[in-house]
Amino acid sequence: MSPRPLDTSAGVLRILLGSDEPVSGQELADRLGLSRTAVWKAVARLREEGLALEAMKGRGYRLAGAPTGLSASLVSARLETDWLGRPFVFHREIDSTNRAAKEMAARGADHGTVVMADMQTAGRGRMDRQWLSPAGANLMLSIILRPDMEIASFFRLTMAAGVALSQAVDGLTGLETKLKWPNDLYCQGLKVSGILTEISGQAQGLDWAVVGVGVNVNAAPDLDTAASLAGLTGGAVNRLGILTAFLANLEEIVDQGPDPEFIRTNWLERSHTLGKKVKVLDRGREVTGLARDIDRDGALLLETEQGLQRIICGDVELG
Ligand code: BTN
Repeated sequence: MSPRPLDTSAGVLRILLGSDEPVSGQELADRLGLSRTAVWKAVARLREEGLALEAMKGRGYRLAGAPTGLSASLVSARLETDWLGRPFVFHREIDSTNRAAKEMAARGADHGTVVMADMQTAGRGRMDRQWLSPAGANLMLSIILRPDMEIASFFRLTMAAGVALSQAVDGLTGLETKLKWPNDLYCQGLKVSGILTEISGQAQGLDWAVVGVGVNVNAAPDLDTAASLAGLTGGAVNRLGILTAFLANLEEIVDQGPDPEFIRTNWLERSHTLGKKVKVLDRGREVTGLARDIDRDGALLLETEQGLQRIICGDVELG
């Protein structure tokens, strides 16, 4: 896809982030092809977002210190993608980014739109579970995708997101994360991230998918089964770094088709589940067997006493 332009505030911020010296309003206007009024409005918006922009008399604008929290313009300015995360919608607090993204998708939001929140009051997990996270510590985002694909293949998008996230986390933290079928990221036996993909479409094809991703970056719920990346590395982890690397990796995978064999191979390389004896629980039903493989659409192929079974959803327990 051809690159989408940065919005004005993100453009101004990108220039200021890249400059040690103050930059004049005129220079910002010239470099971005904007009027001085548009620059002034962009500066006002950046300040509203909490960025400390100083106006130095006769010299121009500069950032007073590195930005602390996240905001729409900061993320947009740092994104290395062409289309994923453009537009990027940021909420300080919302009920659920998946709920909001589904509503936006149903109203026609573009392929690649990302909705993120610093805090969710009704974050949702799979199987009607809650997704809990304190404010300002973690990543909670939902990605609207409209790939040309059959509805039965939508799970490839969950797998693609899992691979992209695992690559980003490992690259930035030095941890070795694993993908647990169907949609969790684990590290050292503990859950660090979950993905909830919701879709709409007809027999002819997928209309849209919302891929919701929650990552325990600097805080984890009080559960024996969960951990945060900071807890595992022993130091605070940069949310923005994980986010931008994740979106860049995911864009690259989606740009390749997304190619089912590429996704499957990369997913298998990082699998936590395959080759192990597992129990799959799905709405009261329980199947035990050896996790043999996953197919191109992400279904788990389980070798059971009754023969090979193709499992499309459920919770996996080892042993
Ligand atoms: C799971 O492990 O059950 C999936 C959890 C998915 C949580 C994310 S957080 C961002 C997005 N918005 C939601 O309400 N849920 C997903």
